Amino acid sequence: MGLLDKHGVIERNATLLLVAGLVTVSIGGIVEIAPLFYLENTIEEVEGMRPYTPLELAGRNIYIREGCYNCHSQMIRPFRDEVERYGHYSLAAESMYDHPFQWGSKRTGPDLARVGDRYSNEWHVQHLKDPQSLVPESVMPSYSFLAEADLGFRAQDHLVANQRVGVPYTQEMVDNADADLKAQADPDADWDGLEARYPKAVLGDFDGDPTRLTEMDALVAYMQMLGTLVDFSSYDAQANYR
Ligand code: HEC
Repeated sequence: MGLLDKHGVIERNATLLLVAGLVTVSIGGIVEIAPLFYLENTIEEVEGMRPYTPLELAGRNIYIREGCYNCHSQMIRPFRDEVERYGHYSLAAESMYDHPFQWGSKRTGPDLARVGDRYSNEWHVQHLKDPQSLVPESVMPSYSFLAEADLGFRAQDHLVANQRVGVPYTQEMVDNADADLKAQADPDADWDGLEARYPKAVLGDFDGDPTRLTEMDALVAYMQMLGTLVDFSSYDAQANYR
């Protein structure tokens, strides 16, 4: 009697088939899932990633509140057409401090993962106020009210909340959160501490009105940071595959 004949026993007994199937599937599941519980971090770290400044974090919250993710992804896939259009494909580490991540699944508008530094602050403000004034065929709605809305953001609480889910904000960052929030968009501020805490932070007035801190300041600060933190001249993607 060959092995294949014994197979018939399982096939004729529904309960046995079910149990054997479950056992097989769980072995596969355990092999894939169990190691993840023992790893501190499954994300390969890259140079340059840092937690968001309080102002960037505030802008990110507005991005989520306004549903920008319904039309914009933040995830460049490793395909030639995407890389040529948007830049280096997204790395897992680039969204490691995003709670929740903003990869998105809809691109009515372009991907924004590397929009930072591509346009001036003035361009962003004008575009958010009246997209059609810059791109006549645009279907993006106007967000001009952001320039009129004073930024009410309890920076310290948000940093602590992010800390609880694993973002490595230091005590110094938390203590300075509210001051950093204002300083980043204030052209007259002393930026030394802020720059030391958050390298590469874009500083200065964003919304065109240095006397006020508005939701527009925060959203533009967030846009200008996107995709600028990792230095790709020093990152060797091929190193992962050697
Ligand atoms: C209804 C869909 C829709 C929504 C919602 C939307 N956008 Fe857009 N967005 C577009 C389209 C379409 C374009 C391309 C045309 C243009 O530049 O206006 C665009 C372009 C952009 C660009 C320029 C990107 C580039 O590389 O040229 C930025 C920046 C941007 N949007 C930011 C935002 C932000 C921030 C929000 C939320 C406050 C938002 N968008 C909400 C549809 C949308």
